[in-house]
Amino acid sequence: MTQETTIILNKLSTDFSPSINDTAIILAAGHGKRIKSQTSKMLHEIWGIPTVERVYNACKSGLDNSNIIVVVGIKAEEVATTVGARDKTIFALQAEQNGTGHAVQMGLNSFDSKNYNGTVYVFPGDMGLIDSDTVKMFKNSFHNSHADMMVLTGIFEGDDADNSYGRIIRVKGQDINGEISGEDERKVIEIMEHKDIQALNPDVPYVMKFNGKEYSYSKEELIKNREFNSGVYAFKNEFLSKLVDEITSNNAQGEIYITDLISIFNKNGLTVDAVSPDKQYVIMGFNNKSVLKEMEAIARKNHYENLKDIILIEDPDDFFIHEDVIAQILEMDIKGVPLDIKIGKGVHIGRGAILNYNLTLMKNVKIDGNIIFGKDVVIWENAHLSCYENQKLEIGNKVEVLWGDIIKGNIKIGDNSRIESSVNMTGSDDFPVVIGENVTIKGTSYIFGSRIDEGMFIEHSVLIKKKLEKLTSANKTINEVKFYLPMPEGVDTISSLE
Ligand code: UD1
Ligand code: CA
Repeated sequence: MTQETTIILNKLSTDFSPSINDTAIILAAGHGKRIKSQTSKMLHEIWGIPTVERVYNACKSGLDNSNIIVVVGIKAEEVATTVGARDKTIFALQAEQNGTGHAVQMGLNSFDSKNYNGTVYVFPGDMGLIDSDTVKMFKNSFHNSHADMMVLTGIFEGDDADNSYGRIIRVKGQDINGEISGEDERKVIEIMEHKDIQALNPDVPYVMKFNGKEYSYSKEELIKNREFNSGVYAFKNEFLSKLVDEITSNNAQGEIYITDLISIFNKNGLTVDAVSPDKQYVIMGFNNKSVLKEMEAIARKNHYENLKDIILIEDPDDFFIHEDVIAQILEMDIKGVPLDIKIGKGVHIGRGAILNYNLTLMKNVKIDGNIIFGKDVVIWENAHLSCYENQKLEIGNKVEVLWGDIIKGNIKIGDNSRIESSVNMTGSDDFPVVIGENVTIKGTSYIFGSRIDEGMFIEHSVLIKKKLEKLTSANKTINEVKFYLPMPEGVDTISSLE
């Protein structure tokens, strides 16, 4: 099993480039029992994209040019396959989940880290709202600080009882003997895990050493400390790769904690610094379904804020537009093209859609795949338009698709055509549906892989692999096809009940 996994991971991995200064290690091996799902926590989606892929993308764009190591373990193959083979990306296996420090060790073992002199960043795979701006800010802060290690911190805003983060412990103004700490004040001494704080005796103060002085903290003081560890770090690798094996598992969870490196760096006379992002939501991680939902809501709100004055979104709380399509809308807006796009409540627009001027998608319309819209198109309530990745569904100018229609696959609909309600249409790879201009197709028709000439009128018909030609000899202005039904099959299995 492990051997098979290793083969798959190696196949998906590409080359590490030692000359590139930045390397990110994404920790994605954990199981996340509290998510209560058969699917890996790392593959839970936020706004249509798995969290681990979001973290990956933020690193790739935020660090500019970087190597990325994704540490996988639980559901390793699925997680690695989801991220997929990418440039300068290694999938490292952590077969047993012995803690975040152990995961980083596995990441460092996947390349020649002892001889790498760049910067190593660590990101948790469940931090799905992290963005490239935050990654950039963190990178710049680390370089400007000249510190040997940096941690990205947050300020906890809820109840102490709900705060299960590792606490950032800083040097106080005075040591245990009342001596002024001076320049050391506010320096980060240690990160202490919530579980280890809980295990402390409330009557015995916890004493930490920093720069030859001792500082004392009560259990309550540590619990109430609101500054927390986000789980994002930067290290000068020359020190990280030397000290990472010194971490022990002498703690309440018996795990190898990456957080122990703070005190280890301090003990070795190295400098540790901390910085916090302006937007606190970017460091959110999730352990359960409700927090995942909160993160999804933040993503939706951010997208709504970006779009609200460019297109009309009927219900800010109930819509989905894939980020690639959002990027396309913002780009069209930058070019100064007014869009007049209207998005009804519950509309879903997936990856691959290309929108156009004056498009109206009414309530609950679902668009999935390479759906290319002409100008002035109206899609009525509950219509579903979809196609597979290798297919294309093209809709001409001024086309109307009425309520409840299901239109799938390789299809082309000409300008000014009108597909009335309850029409079902499928175009396969071998038999696409091609509909000319000014065609009307009326209620309860089924069309599969057919070609329909311009100007035709079709009512209540079932057309399977048919060619419908406009008759030039007839003096009718419209060619009508009505009640065309193929010969029945399986008649002998049917009899009357009376
Ligand atoms: C960790 C930090 C804590 C911080 C919190 C932020 C430690 C010891 N604690 O705690 O200070 O406040 O993150 O969310 O680091 N993972 C592996 N392999 C493992 C264990 C974890 O890959 O063996 C991955 C997980 O999949 C996850 C990340 O590391 O993406 C963080 O692990 P998690 O178990 O969530 O750590 P916390 O207990 O939350
Ligand atoms: Ca966590």
